[in-house]
Amino acid sequence: SRYRAESGSNGIRMTMESALTARDRVGVQDFVLLENFTSEAAFIENLRKRFKENLIYTYIGSVLVSVNPYKELEIYSKQHMERYRGVSFYEVSPHLYAIADNSYRSLRTERKDQCILISGESGAGKTEATKKILQYYAVTCPASDQVEMVKDRLLQSNPVLEAFGNAKTLRNDNSSRFGKYMDVQFDYRGAPVGGHILNYLLEKSRVVHQNHGERNFHIFYQLLDGGEEELLRRLGLEKNPQQYPYLVKGHCARVSSINDKNDWKVVRKALSIINFNDNDVEDLLSIVASVLHLGNVQFAADEQGNAQVTTENQIKYLARLLGVEGSILREALIHKKIIAKGEELVSPLNLEQAAYARDALAKAVYGRTFSWLVNKINKSLSYKETEFPGWRSTTVLGLLDIYGFEVFQHNSFEQFCINYCNEKLQQLFIELTLKSEQEEYESEGIAWEPVQYFDNKIICDLVEEKFKGIISILDEECLRPGDATDMTFLEKLEETVKNHPHFLTHKLADQKTRKSLGREEFRLLHYAGEVTYSVSGFLDKNNDLLFRNLKETMCNSENPIVNQCFERTELTDKKRPETAATQFKNSLSKLMEILMSKEPSYIRCIKPNDSKQAGKFVEVLIRHQVKYLGLMENLRVRRAGFAYRRKYEVFLQRYKSLCPETWPVWDGRPHDGVAVLVKYLGYKQEEYKMGRTKIFIRFPKTLFATEDALEIRKQSLATKIQAAWRGFHQRQKFQHMKHSAITIQSWWRGTLGRRKAAKKKWAVETIRRFIKGFIYRNYPRCAENEYFLDYIRYSFLMSLKRNLPRNVLDKSWPTPPPSLCEASQLLRQLCMQNMVWRYCKRINPEWKQQLDQKVIASEIFKDKKDNYPQSVPRLFLDTRLDINAKVLQALGSETIKYAVPVIKYDRKGYKARARQLLLTQTAVFIVEEAKIKQRIDYANLTGISVSSLSDNLFVLHVHCEDNKQKGDVVLQSDHAIETLTKMAMSADKVDNVNINQGSIKFTVGQGKEGIIDFTSGSELLIAKAKNGHLTVVSGPSGFPPHLCSPSSHLQAQDCSVSCVTALSSWIQNSYITFIGSI
Ligand SMILES: Nc1ncnc2c1ncn2[C@@H]1O[C@H](COP(=O)(O)OP(=O)(O)O)[C@@H](O)[C@H]1O
Ligand SMILES: [Mg+2]
Repeated sequence: SRYRAESGSNGIRMTMESALTARDRVGVQDFVLLENFTSEAAFIENLRKRFKENLIYTYIGSVLVSVNPYKELEIYSKQHMERYRGVSFYEVSPHLYAIADNSYRSLRTERKDQCILISGESGAGKTEATKKILQYYAVTCPASDQVEMVKDRLLQSNPVLEAFGNAKTLRNDNSSRFGKYMDVQFDYRGAPVGGHILNYLLEKSRVVHQNHGERNFHIFYQLLDGGEEELLRRLGLEKNPQQYPYLVKGHCARVSSINDKNDWKVVRKALSIINFNDNDVEDLLSIVASVLHLGNVQFAADEQGNAQVTTENQIKYLARLLGVEGSILREALIHKKIIAKGEELVSPLNLEQAAYARDALAKAVYGRTFSWLVNKINKSLSYKETEFPGWRSTTVLGLLDIYGFEVFQHNSFEQFCINYCNEKLQQLFIELTLKSEQEEYESEGIAWEPVQYFDNKIICDLVEEKFKGIISILDEECLRPGDATDMTFLEKLEETVKNHPHFLTHKLADQKTRKSLGREEFRLLHYAGEVTYSVSGFLDKNNDLLFRNLKETMCNSENPIVNQCFERTELTDKKRPETAATQFKNSLSKLMEILMSKEPSYIRCIKPNDSKQAGKFVEVLIRHQVKYLGLMENLRVRRAGFAYRRKYEVFLQRYKSLCPETWPVWDGRPHDGVAVLVKYLGYKQEEYKMGRTKIFIRFPKTLFATEDALEIRKQSLATKIQAAWRGFHQRQKFQHMKHSAITIQSWWRGTLGRRKAAKKKWAVETIRRFIKGFIYRNYPRCAENEYFLDYIRYSFLMSLKRNLPRNVLDKSWPTPPPSLCEASQLLRQLCMQNMVWRYCKRINPEWKQQLDQKVIASEIFKDKKDNYPQSVPRLFLDTRLDINAKVLQALGSETIKYAVPVIKYDRKGYKARARQLLLTQTAVFIVEEAKIKQRIDYANLTGISVSSLSDNLFVLHVHCEDNKQKGDVVLQSDHAIETLTKMAMSADKVDNVNINQGSIKFTVGQGKEGIIDFTSGSELLIAKAKNGHLTVVSGPSGFPPHLCSPSSHLQAQDCSVSCVTALSSWIQNSYITFIGSI
């Protein structure tokens, strides 16, 4: 439930009461609900349980007990503040904010002044609590610009006061060394509009001395650590605190947990917010610096034993900082001036006295400056009530943050005062608590049963009574002429109050207790326990003496602050100034008056351990504090009658479900409803009382039983409500879904329907137009056929796009509609040109040469010779032979362009002989092995004859007049087309190739003529016929079988089959011409 509480205001409402159920784990939130309320062990156990769960706050009725967590808890956020704002005290878990809010609301609704008293040991968290409450008001109270400024000042006065009034002690790194009571003024709207601070008994002795492990007031260290170079130079200070005896008495000038530099910045900023101008700050810091310089003033004794100042430098600084004459100050430090019988007597001081005077001056200057500071802050906080002077338009809420009970190993005057103060506060507390209890009973009409409690008035009297009280005796001893000492004071005490039951000294004690008391000690039995005080220093501290000549010097100071602190009237006033104890007593009694006039709330702070550690719960220490704070006493008073009380409305609202008559609504008065309810629950007569507005329940167990019953009831109610809610919720959800589904469905159907109808309409329209267009298709373009024609055109172009010919050999082309014939033709040409262009771009020089030859071959042989087609797919090679070296030599400068093996048929008998045919640039050579047999210059080559059949025979006609020639040459080559083409080209005889049908005539030599007859047959046959002719039976058209395998003719050729094939089909077509022209 605690965690649920974090989640929202509804959760919060549950917390307080629901924690009753979780009481076993987190303890009770209000000690009055402890079954065993007289047991200290049970009390501490409850604290421990809650502390372990980080629940640091617990109530005793309306008193808040707080245990210092020594760690940051996430419970002070703005959201937390909001949660506590305007919520009934008991509805939320215990918190500072609940107390703060409760006081604030009483202040607003009843217009009665309030005060919150925060007490506890040093380090228990009082100052933190004060700050948190102030923050709460700053955040939650209504605001305006002017109010913001006041809020700021209220908050910012804190760091300044803490710098000057707080110090590191063994107990607390930021211990307040003065008591503080702060009034916050609220206007009729509830906005904070002003404030006022009262300070009590600053521990001045700290200025000149600190115990081991403690420090002087923060401001000194902050100034040295944070002050700018220039400022320190002006003040004549060095950064190192070790230079100043006043700062290092405790041997811990630097503390890791304190960041003086940062704090300095905070203080500096705060000073300007609370209206300090640069001059004020300079004056103030001059005083702080002068205290440090005073600490460095040293003395030496002259021959007479009189003190002399040995540190002239310090005097110079002091004179400047305090605005006094250096020589006067020097003299004042080593002399004392007394006025006896109207005459001034000046006498020198010895070393000890001089040191005393110096320290007294330091303390006085610092102490008075602190009071001045408080005054100055008060001025900046004061609310100017101009509208209706005399008519109080504001209400006041006071916050008291004052030292708690202090018990040390060695207790002195300061502890005496502090503990006396606590004694007074306890008295007030008891009085007010009892009073308010009694008042409540009275107002509720319930009989008051007297409560037994310890009244500590007897101790207060022991301290403050006139003539007989300790303070009176102390003052008397201080005033009386003669040699009064601390010891004579103790003797006087023994004499005067020896019979007091709360007073004890070594002399007065019995044998047993005497051992625990020194001869210079006295013991007081405070309400919270006994404390032993040492009398040494009591007289001095009470006198708080500052020699007259030092006072005079200060009165003449030109430092405005010092000047205000030391008034001239002090010098002329014949009356002896009040002693410290009396001053304190008087201010306390004033404080009591102030507090009595207000409605109090209490926060009791407890420190869980001495080592400032989180999560450590030291039982001995806590028991001690529970005792000193009188918490058990408090609980006893609060529980004397009834453990629990609640307004009828609240009680009924919470528990009405437990009774059929009050559930779910009770119509009548809440009072009657509760009566019916408790009767139904079976409360016994002695267990409760019915007041005017509240029910009072005597024992926690009665309440717990009711609470448990509620828990069970809640379960069943919750189940029922859940079931009903779920059913309702599901039905709603279903309805909603159904409705949505139907809506979506109908919308979607509509959409679909509309789309379909539109499509149909479009289709009908299109078909109609199409048909009409078809009918009118041969008419000139008109409205009727427009669509159709466009469509046809479009579909032709689209189909063309899809079916464009892939290469030049692809003759396919879609048939165009009549209207596009011309365009189609153009497109086709374009397309073809494009393909050809693309192809041509890829042609290299070798390929071009090849093509050239093929073109010539085509010119010569195409459609004229039967074996021409077979030659087409075969590439023409540059040579088909290796030529013998001797031949090469014989050829000399002739370069061979082509060589091929041939068969030569000689003239006589046509015998076949293997020869080689070479072409050079000028002639044809017939070669046998290494010997050139014949040379035919191209000039002598008159023609070439072949048959139209598929044989490979050819005849070279040679000029007959040439003597060297023996007539025409009959040759056969397996590559006749290639050979002849090359020859025709080399010899430029393309037009001289004759293709003959039937037979070829040729010259055999010496005018004789030979004839070759060609016939076609099934097998190649070349032979001499009986008629002397050479008969050639050409084989089937095609190559000789040994040349037909593709591997053989393509071997070692760097041209791919596909190229050849492409070329072959290409050449067979008319594009040859086109290529020829490239
Ligand atoms: N509510 C708190 N949450 C966290 N830390 C706290 C709380 N109260 C006190 N402290 C710690 O304890 C230290 C001493 O608290 P402080 O209020 O200065 O003690 P006191 O004024 O009673 O001497 C604080 O400096 C802080 O570290
Ligand atoms: Mg404090």
